[in-house]
Amino acid sequence: MDKIRIRGGKPLSGEIVIGGAKNAGLPLMAAGLLTDERLVLSNVPHLADIRTMQELVAQHGVAVEPVGTDGRTVAIGGEITNSVAPYDIVRKMRASVFVLGPLVARAGEAKVSLPGGCAIGNRPIDLHIKGLEAMGAEIVLEGGYVQARAPKGLHGARIAFPFVSVGATENLLMAAALAEGRTELVNAAREPEICDLAHCLVAMGAQIEGIGTAHLVVEGVKRLHGAEHAIIPDRIECGTYACAAAITGGDLFLRGGRLDHLGALVKALREAGVDIDETPQGLHVRRRAGLHGADVMTEPYPGFATDMQAQYMALMCVCDGAALITETIFENRFMHVPELNRMGARINVHGSSAIVRGVPQLSGAPVMATDLRASFSLVLAGLAAQGETTVNRVYHLDRGYEAVEQKLAACGADIERIPG
Ligand code: EPZ
Repeated sequence: MDKIRIRGGKPLSGEIVIGGAKNAGLPLMAAGLLTDERLVLSNVPHLADIRTMQELVAQHGVAVEPVGTDGRTVAIGGEITNSVAPYDIVRKMRASVFVLGPLVARAGEAKVSLPGGCAIGNRPIDLHIKGLEAMGAEIVLEGGYVQARAPKGLHGARIAFPFVSVGATENLLMAAALAEGRTELVNAAREPEICDLAHCLVAMGAQIEGIGTAHLVVEGVKRLHGAEHAIIPDRIECGTYACAAAITGGDLFLRGGRLDHLGALVKALREAGVDIDETPQGLHVRRRAGLHGADVMTEPYPGFATDMQAQYMALMCVCDGAALITETIFENRFMHVPELNRMGARINVHGSSAIVRGVPQLSGAPVMATDLRASFSLVLAGLAAQGETTVNRVYHLDRGYEAVEQKLAACGADIERIPG
C-alpha cells in the first residue's frame, strides 16, 4: 500500500487547479442510465471512485467512452442490458446506490447490492427505498440486495424527507424525471452537487422547478435525451487547499474555486484569520497572521460541510485559543482525532463534539489514514508539522483527491509518494 511522506514547515505558495467535483460526477454518471442517447460529461476528475462508477455503469450494458483528447470528457449512453449492481462493485463504493433510481425508472427493475456501513457511520439507505416505494416501486430486500420492480413505470409522489439526505435527494430526483406525473421532494438537500445534477437533467429534457431550494418539483417526462454538461469544480477539494494555505502560513490561488459554493467554511476561515478573495478565475487564499480558534458545527448545505470537518480540525490544531467542532451528520467522523493527537494536537472528544486546544507546533509522526477526508487532515497536519510525517493507507486519499503530491509539491511542499 502506498504511503505519503511529508517534511513539514514549508509555506505553500503558487496556484492549484481545482478539478471537477467527485460528488457531482458520481450521480451525473448514473444519470447517463436515464437515456439511450449520449450524455457527454466534461471536467471529469481522475479519481478512483469515478473509475469505479464508470465500471458500474458500463456493466449495465451502457457504453462509457472517452471523447476528444483532454482525457476528462466521457460519453455515456446506450441500452440497459443488465439491471444488477453486484456486491463486488458496490462494496468498494457506497455511491453505487445512485444507479438504483435511474435503473428502476428506465428499465422498470433493479437489483442493487445493499451498501454496508462504512468507517464514518452506519449510513442506511432507507430514505432512498421509501421514496421509490412511494413512487410505486415494489421493493424487497433479499440476499443482501435491494430488488426493485416497477414494470408499469414509476408515478409521481409527494416525498417529505424527515431529515436532509444528499444521496436520497439525488436518487429520487433522477427517478422522478422519468416518473409519470408530478413528484415533490420536500426538505430536499440543496448542495451545489444537487443543483449540478438538476441542471444536467434539465439539459436532458427533465422538468424541474425549485433548483437550489429545499422544495423540488418534478414533472415527469416520457423520455430524456442526450446532452452535454460540464461538472462543477470540487468545492471540498477547494476548501481543503484553502486550509493548506492557511495551516502553512502560505498564499495560494485556487483556480476554479467558487466562494458561493463554500457556504459556511468561508465565514469560519475568515473568523480564524484567513483572507479569501474571489476573482472570476478562482480564489486567492492567504493567512494574515496567527490563527484564532473559530467554532463550527456541521450541517447540510449551506451550513458547514461534514466533508470539511477533518481538514478544518487539522487547521484548528495550531490556532491561538480553542475551537469547538460539532459533527451532526455522521456518528463516527472523528477517527482522525487520535492520529492528530499523536502529532502533538490537543483534542478531546465528548460525544458529537470535539474541543481543539491550539498548540504552537505539531510534530511529524507515522499516522494511519482511515477515510478520505481524515486522510487529508493528516496531510495538512504533516505540512505544518516539524519533522517528517508518513501517512499510511493513502488509497483512501486517491478515492477523492487527484494528484495530491504533484499539486502540493508544485507549491513548495516537500512531499512524495512511496509506492508500497
Ligand atoms: C453524501 O453522502 C456525500 N457522498 C458524502 O461525501 C457527504 O459526506 C454526505 O453526502 C453529507 O454531505 C456523495 O455525494 C457521493 P446523506 P450521502 O444521505 O448521500 C443518513 C465524501 O467524503 N441517512 O446526506 O451518503 C446518513 O447515515 C463523502 O466525499 C439515512 O439515515 O449522505 C447520514 O447520517 C463521504 N438514511 C445522513 O443521513 C438514508 O436513506 C446524511 O447522509 C440516507 C441517509
